[in-house]
Amino acid sequence: TVLILDFGSQYSHLITRRIREIGVYCELLPCTQKIDDLHFQPKGVIFSGSPYSISDKDAPHVDPKVFDLNVPILGICYGLQEISRNKGGKIGICERREYGRAQLRIIRHAEHPFVDKLFQGLDDTSEVWMSHGDHLDSAPEGFRVIGDTTTSAFAAVAHETAKTFGIQFHPEVTHSKDGKRILANFVLDICGCEANWTMASFIDKEIERIRNIVGPNGQVVGAVSGGVDSTVAAKLMKEAIGDRFHAILVDNGVMRYKECQNVKAILSDRLGINLDVVDASDLFLDRLVGVTDPEKKRKIIGNTFIEVFESEAARIDNETKQLGRGKIDFLLQGTLYPDVIESISFKGPSATIKTHHNVGGLLENMRLKLIEPLRELFKDEVRALGKLLQIDDELVWRHPFPGPGIAIRVLGEVTRTQVAIARAADHIYIEEIKNAGLYRQISQAYAALLPVRSVGVMGDKRTYEQVIALRAVESTDFMTADWFPMPYDVLKHISNRIINEVKGVNRVVYDVSSKPPSTIEWE
Ligand code: XMP
Repeated sequence: TVLILDFGSQYSHLITRRIREIGVYCELLPCTQKIDDLHFQPKGVIFSGSPYSISDKDAPHVDPKVFDLNVPILGICYGLQEISRNKGGKIGICERREYGRAQLRIIRHAEHPFVDKLFQGLDDTSEVWMSHGDHLDSAPEGFRVIGDTTTSAFAAVAHETAKTFGIQFHPEVTHSKDGKRILANFVLDICGCEANWTMASFIDKEIERIRNIVGPNGQVVGAVSGGVDSTVAAKLMKEAIGDRFHAILVDNGVMRYKECQNVKAILSDRLGINLDVVDASDLFLDRLVGVTDPEKKRKIIGNTFIEVFESEAARIDNETKQLGRGKIDFLLQGTLYPDVIESISFKGPSATIKTHHNVGGLLENMRLKLIEPLRELFKDEVRALGKLLQIDDELVWRHPFPGPGIAIRVLGEVTRTQVAIARAADHIYIEEIKNAGLYRQISQAYAALLPVRSVGVMGDKRTYEQVIALRAVESTDFMTADWFPMPYDVLKHISNRIINEVKGVNRVVYDVSSKPPSTIEWE
């Protein structure tokens, strides 16, 4: 395992990605991690970049014990300054921030072959990506310059004996042409890691781990939604403990068209997961009567969900007890690595803009222990895992869907009629996007029902009906998003179908706002 210490750079997770792509397992931890508390023995350590300047009063720093681990260290950008700060180099503040492409000239040292290892296999120059304010004014004691650019005389340095390297540029971004090779040189050749981290090995290890935690008689419950994360997590549990895992699907009345039937067909019939479907739609919809505030909708749906889920879990617990099974002690959650990173950051979780519905509240009430088999994975790794677990492509590539569902896509009051209109329009929209072969290019698409009426004419009659807004975005992390340039002919077809087929709608508009400053959902 390689340890990556995160100083808060926007690129930190990319370092993790690249190293896993090389086939080496690595973990990203906050830079303030106490070395004595590490739960593994790293074979190498990488310091990330940072939005801070090393001279800031509140600039983050590592536990100096990291230097006593006696394993290779690679500092990237701020990480280089941090090494230098600990080893006595001088750090200057750039008069102009340096940002963008630069040519790195590689300087080799035949008399110290070890320092050449970082750039081995590269040509004499390499295009790299810079993004920094500070730079080194001198190399610390015992360090050699192994690369420079026209603006940074100390763009890359290496210690003659201590296996410590520092680079000013960002090898983790694809604009650094040889970036991956440099990281591979570091983790494989310099740290001596083996490239044996694959999804197949992950499945075996994870199944083993789950069995050990749950024990021979223990039981686990988990909510499933029909999304890729909960489905993959559920299938993994099924492989590990069979029908001692109980999946629960709560129909909250604001799900997509025929969603419950579809999820049941895939999870239960195709994947053999032990699934209970609870129809609580009336309970949810009754509680939503008269509610228009988006945050209130989220709270009601979140709390009702917990209530229904708990009572269902208690029922299963009772029933299986009679079969001589152990108690249900665990709750499955499909938490992904980006959520983990967000909550472990040394800066703390970022400010809440919308309270996202999750089942965290369950834990406090039920005193269940958490099992999170996907907590080390990124979204595309979950997809790869899903494929290996034989989950249908259609599900693996499904767009995300919010917990409060159509309730936050019906603006204003959520009634059964309004939900039916939004659901029907959304179904047509998604169907046509798929027919046009655009579904995978789009990260998320849905139809929202607006709380306004507009005048139209149908046949010879004046109409006064509602408006559907179509939203489609491209995004990698859903923190930022761009609206998708939907081809006009596809829009034309969708609009025709919705207005003709969905009663109560006489106008369709396309949303051309990016996030920020808009958000992906309308509520
Ligand atoms: P926003 O609207 O915040 O959405 O730009 C970002 C992503 O989060 C999803 N989203 C939610 N997911 N519960 C969820 O489970 C929620 O309350 C919620 N609100 C937004 C949204 O669909 C998008 O993928």
